[in-house]
Amino acid sequence: MSGRPKMNRRILVTSALPYANGPIHIGHLVEYIQTDVWVRFQKLRGNRCIYICADDTHGTAIMIRARKEGRSEEELIAAMSEEHQRDFAGFDIQFDNYGSTHSDANREICGEFWQSLREQGLITERAIEQLYDPEAETFLADRFVRGTCPKCGRTDQAGDNCTCGHTYSPTDLIDPKSTLSGATPVMKEATHLFVQLDKLHDFLADWVDTSGALQNEVANYLKGHFLSERLRDWDISRPAPYFGFEIPDSPGNYWYVWFDAPIGYVASTCQWCASAGEQLDDWWKSDQCEVHHFIGKDITYFHTLFWPGMLKTAGYSLPTKVHIHGFLNVDGKKMSKRDGTLISAETYLKYAKPSYLRYFYASKLTSRVEDLDLGIDEFTDKVNSDLVGKVVNLASRVGKFAHKTGLSSSYPDDGGLFDAAAAAGDEIAASYEGCDYAKAMRRIMELADAANPFVEHSKPWELKKDPAREDELRDVCTVALNLFRQLAIYLAPVLPDLAAQCGELLGDPIVSWDQSRQPLLGRSVAKFKRMLDRVQTEDLKKMIDESKELAAADADESSPGTQFSDSDAPLKEEPLADEITIDDFAKVDLRVARVVSAEQVPEANKLLKLTLSLGGDERRVVFAGIKAAYQPESLVGRLVVMAANLQPRKMRFGLSEGMVTAAGPGGAEVFLLNVDEGAQPGQRVH
Ligand code: MSP
Ligand code: ZN
Repeated sequence: MSGRPKMNRRILVTSALPYANGPIHIGHLVEYIQTDVWVRFQKLRGNRCIYICADDTHGTAIMIRARKEGRSEEELIAAMSEEHQRDFAGFDIQFDNYGSTHSDANREICGEFWQSLREQGLITERAIEQLYDPEAETFLADRFVRGTCPKCGRTDQAGDNCTCGHTYSPTDLIDPKSTLSGATPVMKEATHLFVQLDKLHDFLADWVDTSGALQNEVANYLKGHFLSERLRDWDISRPAPYFGFEIPDSPGNYWYVWFDAPIGYVASTCQWCASAGEQLDDWWKSDQCEVHHFIGKDITYFHTLFWPGMLKTAGYSLPTKVHIHGFLNVDGKKMSKRDGTLISAETYLKYAKPSYLRYFYASKLTSRVEDLDLGIDEFTDKVNSDLVGKVVNLASRVGKFAHKTGLSSSYPDDGGLFDAAAAAGDEIAASYEGCDYAKAMRRIMELADAANPFVEHSKPWELKKDPAREDELRDVCTVALNLFRQLAIYLAPVLPDLAAQCGELLGDPIVSWDQSRQPLLGRSVAKFKRMLDRVQTEDLKKMIDESKELAAADADESSPGTQFSDSDAPLKEEPLADEITIDDFAKVDLRVARVVSAEQVPEANKLLKLTLSLGGDERRVVFAGIKAAYQPESLVGRLVVMAANLQPRKMRFGLSEGMVTAAGPGGAEVFLLNVDEGAQPGQRVH
């Protein structure tokens, strides 16, 4: 009956190990849900499949945070691990083992990998100079340094790039400050160990090209960006103090977190083996076992070049597939704390069901590396119309009656619906297998669309009124519930909860994909319980509001002066003005305006001539002293804030009909006020 090969596969699956220094948010969940669906699918197909993950616990960020919170790193990571596991469980993400990179097993296996790298002559060492925070007594990664941009003079810029677009190294910053202590970093030399990845160049190029482990776009990206030239040595050590594992043959140096993190996949498997009575080699060194990594696009390099290189060197299996997904946006924008769209797993679960998000992501995920968008309205529509309106509806319309009638003993004529859905099984399975869940969901919803009219036309609610038609009613229930069950089986990887409810209703747990081929007959049906309610828009609003509040509270908590080190000079140079009343303020009519054209004024050395739109045909010409700070072309199209009721001023070049607002002392140091997305020209600024 079944068209698939009889031999069961052995499959080891991982998701990236989440950093222990932050909570799980809905962006992470794209990955963990995607992976969990795939694993559940494999298990449902009868394959031997394990899902391995762990917390990624090492590095400077954890060390710093533990210091700040006055507890040990171990305490901190233990608390985070518990939180992460609670969050994952809340979304029905089911690991076979959830470990930690800070484990004895990991230390030991890291040693083994290290030994192999040494033996094969891949490790080299040299001194490098790096910024060092003399107060916090630690070397500083670029992101822990801020200072003044050497190009444009903006203050408080990141260690590697300025908002002006200029990139540099943190040593180029003017007046650099450590964000850890506020101290001025000094240059300090230290010896670092490097992996000479280029010695594996040929092997990696071949693997990328021929293994079939990578999506085409990924293979092409690697060929174009890395493999076309020499692979750079990989700085794999950090001098003390560092929270990690000390390198056995290099005292005072620690493995950089990205060395021990992927090895954590192996270590976590090792823990699982110990409890399951399995041999590690059967999973990591056997050609009978597939290894599948699921990761986000941001960590492609580590998993497709560095990690295969390490695996190869240490004699472990190479990944069968690295499945790379894109990033989550919310309502078309990057998630942001300020917009309340950086929603934590915990907050989400207070207001919405995990099934909603699991289904929504499944309906969006394809096999390509594309970003996906969670549109709040689309989310509501999809869940309510597909899940509740089409799938659950099928069961709820007959559920109550079926408890009384039970199921018929032979399958009634349903016009071929059941057979058609059974025949779709292979196609849907292929879509799951290829990670094209969007396609699988579309096909399943087509089946639901075909099934619903059957119930509609058979009108079970009318049959019920006539005791003489009980047999007919039973037949309708039998068809509807069996069609519902097929959907529940096909959706089981995505909606384990619904599958369990279906199993309970019909007294037959869903454990195998092939159950979709045989109808259930001649049995009783349990009392119908509500399955899944509609998403409420208000709940989603509350979820976003709460996320905003949490972000704001977070910002308050961080003590001023450590996170940001803004200079007090501007306020000293220009102290605050005398107090005014709100009526005084209201006299100034500030408006949002769009720059529709910007031109040089040849005779003026400071001015640009801007034409501003206040919406419709309303135009204002303004001469602004921003010539040294802005290229006219860069201004066209952007929004500014203008003082719109200033008395026009006659200038040598023409009439200036207002003023654009800006900060800064003048010259190149002028910064136009920015208006957030969504504002419209003509709107008043209050
Ligand atoms: N600790 C590393 C991974 C080490 S693997 C040996 C890490 N951790 S992470 O917490 O930052 O991210 C974990 C996974 O979640 C990564 O695969 C990352 O791409 C994914 N995502 C994090 N934010 C995401 C979105 N906003 N959208 C989609 N996936 C995201 O990287
Ligand atoms: Zn700059």
